Amino acid sequence: MKNNITFTMIKPDAVEKGYIGGILNKINEAGFKIIAMKLTKLTKDKASEFYKIHEEKPFFNDLIEYMTSGPIVSAVLNKENAVENFRKLIGSTNPEEAEEGTIRKLYAESISANAIHGSDSNENALIESKFHFNENELFNY
Ligand code: CMP
Repeated sequence: MKNNITFTMIKPDAVEKGYIGGILNKINEAGFKIIAMKLTKLTKDKASEFYKIHEEKPFFNDLIEYMTSGPIVSAVLNKENAVENFRKLIGSTNPEEAEEGTIRKLYAESISANAIHGSDSNENALIESKFHFNENELFNY
């Protein structure tokens, strides 16, 4: 499995607050190349499928409400060791535990409205990228 891509979403709270530019800046400064990107809005069906792994969790319904509450920016990013490097850049799921300088420390307001998603494995990075983009939209990959 290649380890050079990860999938991300800038979530509705961060888009609404005008943080797209600031977050993309952090991503570029950290050396990630954007190989696919779009502003889009998830349907309930699509969000439920994307987060199927969490469907038994108590926060599932709130998660789907939140992720479909407004537009998101979805993107595929390229860098060596992309999944691990990107998870370091975004910080802990809970922004209260996120390290200084991480995207969630800077831009997230809570564990549920946590500004940004990052894939948790190389396998999921590929599944999630293909879930949001056609093969011919994944430039240079
Ligand atoms: P993400 O990493 O995109 O994928 C799962 C999401 O579920 C996570 O971000 C959070 O937004 C949300 N989440 C995870 N744990 C909790 C929790 N304990 N309470 C509410 N939301 C959560």
